[in-house]
Amino acid sequence: MKIFLIGFMGSGKTYWGRKLSEKLTLPFFDLDEQIESNEAKTIPQIFAEEGEEYFRLLEKDTLHIITESHDSFIMATGGGTPCYFKNIDFMNRAGTTVWINTPVDLLHERLLKEKTQRPLIKNLNDAQLKGFIIKKFSDRKIYYEQAEMVVEENEKSIEKIVEKLFHA
Ligand code: S3P
Repeated sequence: MKIFLIGFMGSGKTYWGRKLSEKLTLPFFDLDEQIESNEAKTIPQIFAEEGEEYFRLLEKDTLHIITESHDSFIMATGGGTPCYFKNIDFMNRAGTTVWINTPVDLLHERLLKEKTQRPLIKNLNDAQLKGFIIKKFSDRKIYYEQAEMVVEENEKSIEKIVEKLFHA
């Protein structure tokens, strides 16, 4: 079973991915961490030194390599992963995609505290960040909506997620 968690930055993909992997005793992959370890660079370094286009290619290649070389896993993808190179179609063909949906206000609150490691937002002030999230979220929603299953804010418990996964 291959489960891909998708959703905006700060939606909790890594948090729920780790929880799910413990509960289902499946290996866990964090796509950003895999890219960082393969490149021996942080995501901000890759963006700064090679640019976003190069990062998107690495992201696609790493997604394909992990997916094709493992039978079963939980993967936390990056916020932009489903939006480039038809990655959402690839993930939907390979396994089950789960959109971790989170209200914009909550994303804003979290990302204010966690923006330094995220190159797309690290130079934005509070007001700019809010505007960025609203715009980017509305641009990306059409990709997130292609997930096979969605977890809304009020459904975020491991029991509920597992129930939805297996009794959908
Ligand atoms: C990005 C999200 C990040 C990371 C990169 C770009 C995006 O992942 O892949 O900074 O385009 O939304 P997280 O969603 O884990 O922050």
